[in-house]
Amino acid sequence: MLRDITPVTVVVGGFFGDEGKGKIVGYLGLKDRPSAAVRTGSINAGHTVSFDGRVWKLRVVPSAFLCSACRLYVPAGALISIPVFLNEVLETGCSGRIFLDYNAGIITEEHVARERSDELMKQIGSTKQGVGAANSDRIMRRLKLAKDYEELRSYLRDVALEVNEFVDKGEHVLIEGTQGFYLSLYFGTYPYVTSRDTSASGVLSEVGVGPKKVDEVLVVFKSYVTRVGEGPLPNELSPEDVERFGFVERASVTGRVRRAAPFNLELARKSVVINSATQVALTKVDVLFKNIQHVKEWGKLPYNVRKWIEDVENVLKVPITLIGTGEDVMAVIDRREEVLGSLKR
Ligand code: IMP
Ligand code: MG
Repeated sequence: MLRDITPVTVVVGGFFGDEGKGKIVGYLGLKDRPSAAVRTGSINAGHTVSFDGRVWKLRVVPSAFLCSACRLYVPAGALISIPVFLNEVLETGCSGRIFLDYNAGIITEEHVARERSDELMKQIGSTKQGVGAANSDRIMRRLKLAKDYEELRSYLRDVALEVNEFVDKGEHVLIEGTQGFYLSLYFGTYPYVTSRDTSASGVLSEVGVGPKKVDEVLVVFKSYVTRVGEGPLPNELSPEDVERFGFVERASVTGRVRRAAPFNLELARKSVVINSATQVALTKVDVLFKNIQHVKEWGKLPYNVRKWIEDVENVLKVPITLIGTGEDVMAVIDRREEVLGSLKR
């Protein structure tokens, strides 16, 4: 069964963030029931999880929280703001099963103020959540960490060790990346990038899980490309065309309108290579093609939709295993049995 071949999965964004990682990780949480779920990155990244008519916009809590037996972790490489963290724990009702690494970084009001008054942050279109300023303090070794705050005491654990214990027992661990490959500090469109490496390797390093322990690297692409803030976006559509194609979206943290472009095979190919993708998820296929909302079976997709997906798959040379057909986390065509079952590694 699948569980045997996917004990440790890392999910990352393949474009500029907002590919629908929250939706995909939310689905995997409910479907695969991981023992542990880890969310990396920080509060500049909003992951939206819709389930049964309810919507959560998460900035700290792992998107797999809907799986009630799952332990939730925020690792050493992550950064949180204490109020954002405590609020989300309440909203998601996950108190008692969410844990913070002793070394997770803490963002304060001072970091936010510093970014607000920074001219370059304005130019690159930073979300101004204080994440870059806090990361720079961490590099200069003056950032306060979770272990320095009394009010966090009950949440503190050695997350790196606990997660590795799950991994070494062969249990299913789901690691959630944040933002997208082209926002990576190293591989993205510098200086129009975020303050960390968003690739699969960078995400794993934030958790403390070594590369040899990972079974599946799932790269998530949306069926079109969006970008918030400044920086290059190849084949960017005019606001009128964005509207006409139905690609209008707003950023979940800042509320800004997202810029948009058609699906970009060249960007996707490079992303798949550098992330070492073993699987690809394609989200919002129902936005690109009409009348396929909430379809859950591959065979029920019209021929032209299947053809488009197969053409993408042929260029990427990686199986497209999950296909998003609606907002709800369960609106997914899951082809893993069919596609991976036949190539059991
Ligand atoms: P910062 O990391 O908040 O300073 O933002 C730097 C750049 O990354 C800006 O262009 C932001 O819009 C973008 N960015 C940061 N986080 C996200 C995200 O979660 N989704 C999409 N764009 C993001
Ligand atoms: Mg987002």
